[in-house]
Amino acid sequence: MRFAALVSLVAASVAIASPAAHLKKRASCPGGQTVDDAQCCIWFDVLDDLQTNLERRSPKPFVFNSMTQLAFSPALTASGQFGGGGSDGSIIEHADVELTFPPNGNLGGIVASERSIALAHNVSFADMIQFAAAAGVANCAGAPRLEFLAGRPFTSQASPPNLVPGPGNTVTRILDRMADAGFSADETVDLLASHSIAAQQGLNAGIAGSPFDSTPDRFDTQFFIETLLKGVLNPGPTTGFAEVLSPLPGEFRMQSDFAIARDPRTSCRWQELADNPQLMRTAFRTAMAKLAALGNDRSSLVDCSSVIPNPADDDTEPTLPGGKVADDIEGSCAATPFPVLPIAPGPTPTIPAVVI
Ligand code: HEM
Ligand SMILES: *[C@@H]1O[C@H](CO)[C@@H](O)[C@H](O)[C@H]1NC(C)=O
Repeated sequence: MRFAALVSLVAASVAIASPAAHLKKRASCPGGQTVDDAQCCIWFDVLDDLQTNLERRSPKPFVFNSMTQLAFSPALTASGQFGGGGSDGSIIEHADVELTFPPNGNLGGIVASERSIALAHNVSFADMIQFAAAAGVANCAGAPRLEFLAGRPFTSQASPPNLVPGPGNTVTRILDRMADAGFSADETVDLLASHSIAAQQGLNAGIAGSPFDSTPDRFDTQFFIETLLKGVLNPGPTTGFAEVLSPLPGEFRMQSDFAIARDPRTSCRWQELADNPQLMRTAFRTAMAKLAALGNDRSSLVDCSSVIPNPADDDTEPTLPGGKVADDIEGSCAATPFPVLPIAPGPTPTIPAVVI
């Protein structure tokens, strides 16, 4: 009796002590920074390397690479096939396979950079992708400071094809795919906040760098507003793959963004984000944390978020671009009218291409 009681007492104290010990191990790094865990120090060195890269090129492709992690299908796994590992770094480790999948076509350069930085610092490819996305997002004014957890495994399996959503897919196909990966319709819209800091290269190569909103360097709600404007022109001399009419010269509109903005399953969330920068930030942060943990056990990872730089503030107001009026908005949320927004002064702007 006495012995059994002692054993259970010891077991209980072990159970309490070990997670507590795992949780907080504040440490000072060689550079003088304080972190929650000594394992985080290496990421300051990775950040230095990455910033050198980011000075040369836009941070956007580093963020775009997160999307390849949507190659995660519990449904396929349940059917007895390998359904993809999620946020496992497989786009880097198995670049020979995954870069041949059409939606990943333009990622060769970014995958090569991430690979060499990860190898130089002996961090996993999977962690590298999450870190580069968080650091890339932090380069844009108005962005949330994303969570960054470290400690994902070093090895992965190549993902199967046809799991990453494409710009020519129907809304139903995209939402089904996202639901399989664990994302609701609202969370799908939340992730598309990324297209507020984005441009296309491969859909219409003749106008490479044409952005998806008028402010591709700012994480603001203009993307959600401008995608709802009536399409009136082709920004290039030819029409690209999955390209639909755009509201502004120089701006690119992809078919899937156009359709998700107007679909009854997603249009109210879209409209909600259109004039709520604070909600756009928090919702994107939450959805990105979920994407970064896909296929991983969060409790096995270490929180190194304090390494991510603080993004600059953006206090510009959601506006209709110059030359547009409220009637140009194709309000699609049946429940609520589109909010009244100020109109930017001056004529309709021509949006310059982003230089990568
Ligand atoms: C419905 C799902 C999505 C579709 C169909 C889609 C499609 C695309 C396409 C076709 C491009 C242009 C690529 C090029 O031509 O270079 C693009 C760009 C981009 N996407 Fe998405 N995307 C989706 C979701 C996401 C998600 C979840 C993220 C990140 C979390 C993301 C981040 C980006 C970024 C940052 C760019 C700009 C890349 C650059 O400027 O180089 N997208 N997206
Ligand atoms: C790289 O990191 C892994 C995992 O932390 C470790 O097992 C390995 O010994 C390290 N390799 C070198 C060369 O430091």
